[in-house]
Amino acid sequence: MRGLVPPGSMPGLYVRHDARRYAVKHLRRCLIAPYLRRAGDRPPCLFRQFAKRLALANLFDYSSSMRIGSLELKSNLFLSPLAGYTNLPFRLTLREVGGLDLATTDLVNARSLLENNPKALKLIETRPADRPLAVQLFGSVPEEMRDAAQYLESTGISSVDINMGCPVRKVCRVGGGSAMMSELGKTAKLVKGMVDAVKIPITAKMRLGWDDQNITAPDLARALEDVGVAAIFVHGRTREQGFSGAVNLAGIRAVARAVTNIPVIGNGDVTTPEAAKKMIAETDCAGVSIGRGAFYNPWIFLHTLHYLRTGELPPEPGFDERVRVMCRHLDLMIEVFGEEHGCRLFRKVAPWYAKRFGPANIFNKRIVTVSSKAEFHKILGDYLDWRKQFLDENGELRPHYRPPPMVASFMEEPGVTQRGQIPVPKGPVEVW
Ligand SMILES: Cc1cc2nc3c(=O)[nH]c(=O)nc-3n(C[C@H](O)[C@H](O)[C@H](O)COP(=O)(O)O)c2cc1C
Repeated sequence: MRGLVPPGSMPGLYVRHDARRYAVKHLRRCLIAPYLRRAGDRPPCLFRQFAKRLALANLFDYSSSMRIGSLELKSNLFLSPLAGYTNLPFRLTLREVGGLDLATTDLVNARSLLENNPKALKLIETRPADRPLAVQLFGSVPEEMRDAAQYLESTGISSVDINMGCPVRKVCRVGGGSAMMSELGKTAKLVKGMVDAVKIPITAKMRLGWDDQNITAPDLARALEDVGVAAIFVHGRTREQGFSGAVNLAGIRAVARAVTNIPVIGNGDVTTPEAAKKMIAETDCAGVSIGRGAFYNPWIFLHTLHYLRTGELPPEPGFDERVRVMCRHLDLMIEVFGEEHGCRLFRKVAPWYAKRFGPANIFNKRIVTVSSKAEFHKILGDYLDWRKQFLDENGELRPHYRPPPMVASFMEEPGVTQRGQIPVPKGPVEVW
């Protein structure tokens, strides 16, 4: 049982969990998780009641506040960086809906930040309501990464995440992104320079490795823990995989087990509370990070937190609530980017909301040209009229038109054909 010693007892290491939580985590890992894997998702009622009586119920509580270095977090659910999307308005929208604590910006070029490039500065724009916030940096020049981390610390940013998973050629060519996963020694040195230069936590986000023959994430995670990284975020696919195939839970588990004292956060295809629970239960990761799932469903953090705490699934938000949140998101886009640019950016955001509206082709067709708030509301009003033909007498979508439930790749039952992959949004990057 690796790491059973409470980390607080090790001088020089961050105190990340109190002894109780640490013991619970290891009990769950050793006793409960294998049992759940055999018995299906929920332990049988009698057994649960028995556990409750013994005040062991929190063994089944997969949600928790947690620590990342010096940061005390209220939720073990995180927003994954999505270049072109995880901007201030999106983060504020998600935070207003609830359940999210640490969010991350799009990736930011360290050099551009040091050069005060306006685009880079816009990427790190934040507000008091947008806390705690991590900025994700990419770059391969140790001094630039160090100085950018120091600069971010001076602005009050909560933590700095290093991008080690980006497969885009432009980023890898300069030794950043996934290229960092291939050169362990060099990467560890660069990271140490950053850790030593700041007090805020430095975290790393990676894929499992370059390809199936080169699964380097466990070794890299261990090397990064040794130089003081405070947490690892891992997308359970290789660079070669792109977004195809199922997320590899065993791969995430190997990373979680490779480190001794720092939390590992699993990532990939978490689109439902059940998927989040399965990932935590089967990988021993301390929490999950959600990207595209937050697009479909900005309620995913709130609902997942509730589900992890109580085992109850809150009802899906109704159509009116989805429309309300979409309109609020647009208002925030306009506040932050101005009316014309905000509306332009919203052209690629609104169709994600519409994916859960039922029939919406007429809305999607018109929204791609929207350039003012008034125009948006005209399109929405027309759409609401058009949509009436699909409703029953109670104003609900008739069953035939309801969107099918979301299913994460790793939740597919064996032998059942894939119900379709989660689309990858278009944007500045195609193949993350
Ligand atoms: C459009 C898009 C942009 C992304 N941008 C980033 C990024 O800036 N930094 C990063 O580390 N990962 C980025 N990713 C990867 C996501 O953070 C995440 O690892 C991946 O989408 C899997 O999680 P999901 O299934 O919850 O979306 C991006 C993914 C997409 C689809």
